[in-house]
Amino acid sequence: MSFIDDLRKIKRGPAIMLQKDIGVILANTCIDKDSTVVDGGSGCGVLTANLARFVKKVYSYDNRKEFLEIARENIKKLGLKNVVFKNKDVFEKIDERKLDLITLDIKDPWKALGNCKKALKKGGELAVFLPNITQVHEFINKVDENFKVENVVEDIQRRWIVDERRARPENIGILHTGFLVFAKKI
Ligand SMILES: C[S@@+](CC[C@H](N)C(=O)[O-])C[C@H]1O[C@@H](n2cnc3c(N)ncnc32)[C@H](O)[C@@H]1O
Repeated sequence: MSFIDDLRKIKRGPAIMLQKDIGVILANTCIDKDSTVVDGGSGCGVLTANLARFVKKVYSYDNRKEFLEIARENIKKLGLKNVVFKNKDVFEKIDERKLDLITLDIKDPWKALGNCKKALKKGGELAVFLPNITQVHEFINKVDENFKVENVVEDIQRRWIVDERRARPENIGILHTGFLVFAKKI
């Protein structure tokens, strides 16, 4: 069984981030096997798990104990050992320092900007996932001189049916998930 096969069987709770969006984070940030990352919030742990496969350590924060427990169980089932869970609110505090990356898949992420500034190393990155473009606008308006917004992207994927008779996009599918904002601490 592969990681992706196991991921399909995880316990579900809050909305997960899809692999197509996670791929954009992994490909557009400078994380590697030596990196330390904070992921807020854990949710079902899908983004946490994907990050943990590639970096040294992931600190995964969720302010809701019941969701943190779902994520913890999923990470255990996936056999990942480099994740530390924290039942804490990223708006109140991020304990770590000199982080390479912070990912935020939470409502009102701009409320964590001050704590992200303290926790990231210089040149460290912030990747924020937001379902609505109005939230992207609000986030960017609230970013201060400590960060430089580098990129705002939406990843759109269309699944196709390809067999002996057909070669066309599927009639239905996931039309929208969200936008990703990438910012760098300067
Ligand atoms: C959409 S889910 C995250 C899904 C996750 N990225 C995944 O792929 O499974 C959002 C989570 O953030 C948590 N959350 C919301 N605000 C938070 C905050 N201020 N601090 C920590 N966690 C928070 C929620 O409890 C929820 O579990």
